[in-house]
Amino acid sequence: MDLELLLKPIKILITGAKGQVGTDLTRLGKTDSFFEIIALDKSALDITNAKQINDQLTHYLPDYVINCAAFDHVDEAEHKADLCYAVNAKGVETLALACADLSIPMFHLSTDYVFDGHYASGYTEDDEVAPLGVYGDSKWQGEELLRQVLPKHLILRVSWLFSGQGNNFVLRTLEAARTQNALEAVSDRRGCPTSASDVARVILAMLKQVHNGADAWGTYHYCGAEITNRYDFCKEILIAAGNYENFEVETLVPISSKDYVTEAQRPNTSVLTCKKLLSVFGIRQRPWRQELQWLMRVIYSSPKP
Ligand SMILES: NC(=O)c1ccc[n+]([C@@H]2O[C@H](COP(=O)([O-])OP(=O)(O)OC[C@H]3O[C@@H](n4cnc5c(N)ncnc54)[C@H](OP(=O)(O)O)[C@@H]3O)[C@@H](O)[C@H]2O)c1
Repeated sequence: MDLELLLKPIKILITGAKGQVGTDLTRLGKTDSFFEIIALDKSALDITNAKQINDQLTHYLPDYVINCAAFDHVDEAEHKADLCYAVNAKGVETLALACADLSIPMFHLSTDYVFDGHYASGYTEDDEVAPLGVYGDSKWQGEELLRQVLPKHLILRVSWLFSGQGNNFVLRTLEAARTQNALEAVSDRRGCPTSASDVARVILAMLKQVHNGADAWGTYHYCGAEITNRYDFCKEILIAAGNYENFEVETLVPISSKDYVTEAQRPNTSVLTCKKLLSVFGIRQRPWRQELQWLMRVIYSSPKP
């Protein structure tokens, strides 16, 4: 690769740029001179709209497309299956086909929900998938369609995302703790919380390496370090936020997942093993506790809307 090409910023086009990962990726990418960021939200690029995809890709001609767009309302997906598959499966295929036409590699995000959660010691990228609901199945189909259409792809499966915006367990816990005296949280559902900004760090680090010639296309897992359960995570959120705010909540009660009925079934232990990412890219897991502390500082130092 010649010097001029190496010095040129890597142009990345982000879809779903107003979601949790999309927002943090845009923010982090804009602070890094290695990258030129084109951040497109759903109104600028709907991944179910083939014409809009082609128009935007041919207009910007990015070096990489990073798909952060998804329908990820897990319960809603059970009765909005058509919309869920249209975005998470067909939409991914349409985006991948457009990328293939223009020889643009694509980075895609997927989920621990492609597994059924019966394997307690952690899932590797080679483990068999067995999604329990529409959302997990649609994400698996999206992965498969991408694999068929575009060999130059990276798929990163992540789990239990949290950030300072959107619909996530941290913000829902804070909201509930402000208004309720007693909270319940499931103690037998295990996983690894992962901050969206940490995922953004990992995506950019992977992209730098493939851009510099690493032949590392394929599927990887990433999640925050240390396995926990929803109850302990909830406790940790309340302790971390308790340094900044007095809550109404006085008791936190552990409950069984059997007593917490939701429309969609969820995997009970969806721990992702991240050894492949470490051995191929040298990228280590960061402790989610540290990321949570950092997020609390950000949330409580931001002016109230
Ligand atoms: N959240 C989690 O805990 C979790 C866990 C594991 C994996 N993941 C995966 O990680 C990725 C990022 O998740 P996230 O939490 O950042 O998701 P998110 O906050 O829900 O963001 C997704 C974004 O995609 C947009 N979108 C929906 N349909 C679209 C379409 N047809 N075209 C373009 N944009 C569209 C959404 O816009 P609207 O909101 O306006 O619809 C939203 O801004 C997703 O692939 C998700 O499946 C998430």
